[in-house]
Amino acid sequence: MARILGGVSTSHIPSIGNAIAKGLQNEPYWRPFFDGFNGVHQWLAQVRPDVVVVIYNDHGLNFFLDKLPTFAIGAAAEYHHADEGWGLPVARPFPGDPALSWHLINALVADEFDITMCQEMLVDHAFTIPMSLLWPGGGAWPVRTIPICINTVQHPLPSPARCFNLGRAIGRALDSYDRDLKVLVLGTGGLSHQLDGTRAGFINKPFDLLCLDRIVHEPEALTHYSVLELVELAGAQGVELVNWLAMRGALTGNVSRVHGNYHIPISNTATGVLVLDNQPIAGDAKRAA
Ligand code: DHB
Ligand code: FE
Repeated sequence: MARILGGVSTSHIPSIGNAIAKGLQNEPYWRPFFDGFNGVHQWLAQVRPDVVVVIYNDHGLNFFLDKLPTFAIGAAAEYHHADEGWGLPVARPFPGDPALSWHLINALVADEFDITMCQEMLVDHAFTIPMSLLWPGGGAWPVRTIPICINTVQHPLPSPARCFNLGRAIGRALDSYDRDLKVLVLGTGGLSHQLDGTRAGFINKPFDLLCLDRIVHEPEALTHYSVLELVELAGAQGVELVNWLAMRGALTGNVSRVHGNYHIPISNTATGVLVLDNQPIAGDAKRAA
């Protein structure tokens, strides 16, 4: 049976990729951010996932405003990055797991989530940078990947409650997968930031800290916001928090916080990282055995 090990959530700012490429991790500007990942690496070395389900938003590399699915899942054997600007180097390709992708697609459509299935899919910085933060150092990626995109770019966006419920459906689908696999769920984006308009540079530390607490202990409390309330509280791009909510929804067991960090700013963004452990609930563990 597939086992959901836990979840990680992290910001996905392009300048992080440039800092990695230039080896700036120990510079005073970058150190408080990169040091926040030591606890992530320690936990990953213990739990050793086989597959990572990456819940993120594409920013115009694979989907553009002309055709933009609300929810999309990759079902490819391999995912490529491409030159998306920002001066970012192109990441090496990521292995997929088409059998698990199709299981998720079948389960989610049966669960009334009308997702777009993508047998070809470019992945952008919101996927590649979190992968480089979790598994730095180059070489072959030690995990297979399943990209899941949520539209946080062109309104109307799916509500926080809908994204949390998508995560729950992903969790149920993983629990029902009959291959022996250790799965990590990764949610990327946030925390508060706004890149354009009169509120460009907007950051809301009290709201970010509230989210970092609620996402662990009381995620349902965050599902009561409307999309526009979330824009007001977190900024126009801070709505990427819905990717964290979907990650949290996918953790179907007893969830506890292993590690976290919060640092302002990197570029225009308040950054956060969290590691959540997911222990199967007794009845489920018995069923799995
Ligand atoms: C920045 C943040 C993002 O989430 C993103 O996708 C692009 C840029 C930034 O703060 O620069
Ligand atoms: Fe973003």
